[in-house]
Amino acid sequence: MADDLDDVTDDETSESSEALIAVHWREEGYYPPPASFTAQANASDPAIREQFTEDEFPDSFTAYADLLTWFKPWDTVLDTSNAPFWKWFVGGELNASYNCVDRHLATHPNKAALIWVPEPESEAHQAITYRELYIRVNEFAAVLKDLGLKAGDRITFHMPMVPELPVAMLAAARLGIIHSQVFAGFSGTAAGHRIADSGSTVLVTTDSYYRSGDLLDHKVKADEAVEAAAKEGQQVDKVLVFRRYPGKYSAATPMVEGRDVFVDDLLAAHKGEIVEPVPLQATDPLFLMYTSGTTGRPKGCQHSVGGYLSYVAGTSKYYQDIHPDDTYWCMADIGWITGHSYIVYGPLALGTTSVLYEGTPNYPDAARPWRIAKQLGVNIFHTSPTAIRMLRKVGPDEPAKYDYHFKHMTTVGEPIEPEVWRWYYQSIGKSEAVIVDTWWQTETGGFLGSTLPGIDPMKPGSCGPAALGILPTILDENGDEVPAGSGKAGNIVIRNPWPGVFQTIWGQPDRFVSTYYAKYNKDPKSTDWRDWPYFAGDGAVQAADGYFRILGRVDDVINVAGHRLGTKELESAALTVTEVAEAAAVPVVDDIRGRMVEMYVSLKPGYDASPEVEAKVKNAIETDIGKIARPKNIWIVPDMPKTRSGKIMRRVIAATSNFTDTGDITTLANPEVVEKIRHQVQSAKLAKGEVPRELSETELNEIKSFGSE
Ligand code: WTA
Repeated sequence: MADDLDDVTDDETSESSEALIAVHWREEGYYPPPASFTAQANASDPAIREQFTEDEFPDSFTAYADLLTWFKPWDTVLDTSNAPFWKWFVGGELNASYNCVDRHLATHPNKAALIWVPEPESEAHQAITYRELYIRVNEFAAVLKDLGLKAGDRITFHMPMVPELPVAMLAAARLGIIHSQVFAGFSGTAAGHRIADSGSTVLVTTDSYYRSGDLLDHKVKADEAVEAAAKEGQQVDKVLVFRRYPGKYSAATPMVEGRDVFVDDLLAAHKGEIVEPVPLQATDPLFLMYTSGTTGRPKGCQHSVGGYLSYVAGTSKYYQDIHPDDTYWCMADIGWITGHSYIVYGPLALGTTSVLYEGTPNYPDAARPWRIAKQLGVNIFHTSPTAIRMLRKVGPDEPAKYDYHFKHMTTVGEPIEPEVWRWYYQSIGKSEAVIVDTWWQTETGGFLGSTLPGIDPMKPGSCGPAALGILPTILDENGDEVPAGSGKAGNIVIRNPWPGVFQTIWGQPDRFVSTYYAKYNKDPKSTDWRDWPYFAGDGAVQAADGYFRILGRVDDVINVAGHRLGTKELESAALTVTEVAEAAAVPVVDDIRGRMVEMYVSLKPGYDASPEVEAKVKNAIETDIGKIARPKNIWIVPDMPKTRSGKIMRRVIAATSNFTDTGDITTLANPEVVEKIRHQVQSAKLAKGEVPRELSETELNEIKSFGSE
């Protein structure tokens, strides 16, 4: 089947309101999975869907739990008595570290569990066998135990992509210590907020790591983190510092006497020590993963040992199509949920070889990923639309020059444009790999929407149907279903619980209920799961074939290169600058990163706009959140467009940044400021060569309704 498109364009007029985003889109052609893929796939018979229908729910998910080794079987598959705090596999006991490490020793102790690829090409790859991983996990668990940490305590990691990170995660999991890994690219202050929120007394970090050719001092962030946590009343007693080069300290920042310790020194005292994996309840927490929302306070999404591990093992098997003899490479960072689920827990639970790359994909050049793929014999590849767009821009002809062969590829984290999808398929996949476009979230633990790779045809730009056992639908603002094939968008919800869903927001159970379940719940006392649709916060449309197309966030979250940034967090960072009176963050469409942030600020009386103030705002954002949140532009404007009640009209500002129509501004308190800002911003952008391209219907709709929450 070919890539020519069935040109079906519907003529319906586009409506847009805060409630309903009508979309026009061209139906894309289908691509069937290659027969050779289907022949070897873990799921090749469409009858598998019959085991996961609504009638089979929730027992259907025991098929995932059965992929694990349980110390004690569960009594109840799903307990809904404290809805919507679902409890999966109640009464069951297991240990994630045991499942990802120990149990593979009997069958393949000498197979690589992890292959670590350092960024400098002059440094050798490090293969860590399951046996070696077992030893390292046990020794580090002994260190944690020695510090007095035990099941239920929290520990924060602020680690880059080095093998010590999965080792530390599995060591914590072994003891039931709840880990919270903060993306290394986040600032020390951001790590500090998360340390305080989780109540961690120990921070695990590393002295340095490579990023785009530079050996960064990472230890400096630990000092900032400890200070930021202390300001919020959380004391960090110990900072455990791994060294990028054991025995050699590579950071300029000094170690703090009594608080900071080198891990390699501690490990020496625990050589060969074995720490038995603690049998944990299936419903015990495994880890926290922080993500952004509509308020300034990040949400610590709490994932369970039994439900989460079952779900990532099951989806890794059927959607990543992982077989034990595959070499699987997910280029995401373990600091995000993708890395937790589909670099560490899912692949290792299945006993495969998971590749870990320290650096940036285009270092030292845009062919680096293909050299790695060839050298290691990677056959399953997993990355984001941003990385694909970037590699397509800087090295469109590189994949063809390298003799590697993927059977399977994944895209995750953002919508992928059909033309970018086709380049992924043809150039990176050499038209021989199947692609899964996986839609899911930090909160959901694992995939919610994706084609079954050996069975379903692919359709560029659509994630596909619901994942096995997931029952989604699209609702309008009133809770009425939007019919499939209507071309109308609404809010995608999941009607049923599933084992991978997060258990709560750490320390904020009310926010958990109000953000994710209150919107469509009609009876807060109900213990019937049917009364609690999960509100994902994404707009979506469902085509007549049942495939979902995800349009993006309906809340004030900006998805930059697949990273969720909350506008409130960005704005409160800007407001820490003395001169700033008001701040508003809006998305601007970007050809590589999908979206970028633009920050508008107005100043207090008596202050004038200057490059210094601009630099202060930029610094404040980098210090509070991290470089990934750095705005594309900071505009110091005379005033913000506001409603008569004083609310900043973010959609008007967003339209200005994106050169789109500002819509009706007659109801503003200060409509005259709109033209002033437009002139200021757009002429400056044109002078910088930021020439706008025509936006798609979906992009236009997002800009038009931005900030309506
Ligand atoms: C977006 C990442 C379109 C979506 C796993 C979601 C996607 C948010 C896709 C979650 C996809 C994720 N197509 N959009 N395949 N996957 N998203 O928590 O808006 O970092 O709500 O989890 O990313 O981002 P998060």
